[in-house]
Amino acid sequence: MDYMVLDNKNFTKYLSKHEIEAAVISIANRINTDYEGKQVILVSVLKGAIIFTADLVRHLKVDHEVEFVRLSSYGKARTSSGTVTILKDIHADIRGKHVLILEEIIDSGRTLKFLFERLKASGPASVEIVTLLDKSSKRVVDVPVKYVGRTIDDQFLVGYGLDLEEHCRNLPDVYYLKYPN
Ligand code: IMP
Ligand code: MG
Repeated sequence: MDYMVLDNKNFTKYLSKHEIEAAVISIANRINTDYEGKQVILVSVLKGAIIFTADLVRHLKVDHEVEFVRLSSYGKARTSSGTVTILKDIHADIRGKHVLILEEIIDSGRTLKFLFERLKASGPASVEIVTLLDKSSKRVVDVPVKYVGRTIDDQFLVGYGLDLEEHCRNLPDVYYLKYPN
């Protein structure tokens, strides 16, 4: 389905599940090479990154643990408020470990900047950011993103973990809709 209407909003397909799978595998291959023989802790950012995380780990060959963090910067608004709070923290001790933050999309970069600095302060061997999608033109704060699946236009996207007010995370493909007012 390339086009659908939900709740009177028009969604157009932006990335197919096949394109997403190719991007996920390509990221996994790079991680498998770069982290061979290392102990990795994946910090997946709830809720959006759950689908990406589940797919990525099934292509990883490096030894790893999965942790989850939940942050809030948006509330119900669709643009970043700039204030980040921790709703759920990780439990593992990351000191001396190689940390990979898993995010499904980076927009202003504020959410990731906050998490990146906070994890770095706990003394890991390294911290890097992995994102499936990167709206690089929307960046407001500088944040080092090492692994990017796809660089994308400034569109509001749903599907594959991305939500519109908590709906549509389950869609296997990614759709865009015009920014609602
Ligand atoms: P940032 O702090 O502005 O980089 O915001 C990143 C977070 O905003 C992501 O983890 C998503 O949860 C959310 N977000 C950004 N762009 C979109 C989008 O197009 N659709 C759905 N959620 C988005
Ligand atoms: Mg979200």
